[in-house]
Amino acid sequence: MTQSPRKKPEELRSHRWYGVKDMRAFGHRSRTAQMGFHRGDYAGKPVIAIINTWSDINPCHTHFKQRVEEVKRGIWQAGGFPVEMPAISLSEPFQKPTTMLYRNLLAMECEELLRSYPADGCVLMGGCDKTTPALMMGAISMDLPAIFMPAGPMLRGDYKGEFLGSGSDTWKYWAELRAGNITEQDWQDVEDGIARSPGHCMTMGTASTMTSAAEVLGFTLPGAASIPAPDSRHAQMATLTGKRIVDMVWEDLKPSDILSARSFDNAVTAVLALGGSTNAIVHLIALARRAGIALDIHRFDELARQTPVLANLRPSGKFLMEDFFYAGGLRALLTQLGDLLDLSQLTCSGRTLGANLEGATVFNDDVIRPRGNPLVAHSGLAVLVGNLAPAGAIIKPAAMEPGLRKHRGPAVVFKDYNDMAARIDDDALEVTKDSVIVLQSAGPQGAPGMPEWGQLPIPRKLLKEGVRDMVRISDARMSGTSYGACVLHVTPESHVGGPLALVRDGDLIELDVDARRIDMLVGDEELARRRAAWQQPAARFTRGYGVLYLKHIQQADTGCDFDFLETERAQTAAGGEPEIH
Ligand code: FES
Repeated sequence: MTQSPRKKPEELRSHRWYGVKDMRAFGHRSRTAQMGFHRGDYAGKPVIAIINTWSDINPCHTHFKQRVEEVKRGIWQAGGFPVEMPAISLSEPFQKPTTMLYRNLLAMECEELLRSYPADGCVLMGGCDKTTPALMMGAISMDLPAIFMPAGPMLRGDYKGEFLGSGSDTWKYWAELRAGNITEQDWQDVEDGIARSPGHCMTMGTASTMTSAAEVLGFTLPGAASIPAPDSRHAQMATLTGKRIVDMVWEDLKPSDILSARSFDNAVTAVLALGGSTNAIVHLIALARRAGIALDIHRFDELARQTPVLANLRPSGKFLMEDFFYAGGLRALLTQLGDLLDLSQLTCSGRTLGANLEGATVFNDDVIRPRGNPLVAHSGLAVLVGNLAPAGAIIKPAAMEPGLRKHRGPAVVFKDYNDMAARIDDDALEVTKDSVIVLQSAGPQGAPGMPEWGQLPIPRKLLKEGVRDMVRISDARMSGTSYGACVLHVTPESHVGGPLALVRDGDLIELDVDARRIDMLVGDEELARRRAAWQQPAARFTRGYGVLYLKHIQQADTGCDFDFLETERAQTAAGGEPEIH
């Protein structure tokens, strides 16, 4: 258990709102009474903010309306006072151009809700892709006791007796429809069966990756990330989470007590062993920097070289999160990693990561592979550098055709997404299976928001010839449910004048995954001539949040956080927080 001393009621942060003898505290109490609470409901108790990202437009969080009641039940049982605070719901399927444009907005909202209201601790309710890193980023910056309650994966999709995986099977059947191999009725049947319960995507996409990372970082109770959303054990976990946060407040167990360079290494290692989403790179770097911990993209490559992919989950493997849960879930997988993890790291349970794994068992060693029979021996993810990406780019070798690991081909360049959408399926497009498809203006500033466009479509005429993978390059991200020989996160991005902006049709591009290189075979003199002639595309926003975003967003290699949010912990709760009156 943590050694932190128990707080006294008058040491609670909320005491400033409720406990002092002045007119403002009278106002706070009388207005709490207005909501139907007697002072015995809250006096001297930890006030627990529940940051709930439920919304009618977020299907992954449908059950949060009910789950929040279970979280509250736990808080009441443990002697706390629950206060639900809704926050912007970043709904991956609906929000345009991309939820990534708003990740930092939710992070700011979470931080400011906690700062401006009488919160002693918080339960963060998220799961749909960016909600997890956003909520954690805000909580890390505020540094109050915080626990994460993951939405949990939805049930397996169902289509003609086959299991469907979120995203992955959408891409797959869309390609088959475009190739003329399935009918419109088949496509509609996929539509009806692919998402059939509450919960986030059930492949090892960004949602499952980031909730698992949250658990390994110590932000959830043991086992929380793997439970399917509709399972009654998920409801039980919600109550246990509510109970635990109250004790965390008394113990004063904060993110700064559990996060360290070693806990981030653990999270990166777990993400790699899961065959997790490339998006985790951007998010984990942002989280680490919020915590004042140095983590750069090359650390991912170093750890990837020693970490086997053990989770046989789509898109890299065969199974889905429901299977993973029945096979023992994340805790069981972590037992297989053993010496690759630092099990001494403290977690929000008050126990170490190692203690949290006690009793965990693998029940299906095809779903959770032993070290001796990995899905991929190592390097499920690789960081590339070269004259095309001086500050780095990402590829996921585990989810691409092995024959493309070393490839040289002529570029077919699209200057932005609309250009690509207009021409990619044109039969007159000069492209072969050996071409390298390049998309510009898809990065943090260019798109803007660095959308998940990185799995660039294969031209229809090549699909009809049976081509299902080819080398594709962009400064975009890729959905964690996607697959293919896609070079992503090219940094610096083309919009700010990165070398990707200088590629022209026909330039030879060379990818060498084993050498970790991505280069365009164009002479320095010619590149200098192109650079001199290059003009930055116009900014997309002239007012509102978009202007703030464009002014302060950073590049992918540093996590795409706003520059002004990368503050030192000294500014947060215990330190330089301004006096509240
Ligand atoms: Fe919400 Fe995939 S759409 S997690």
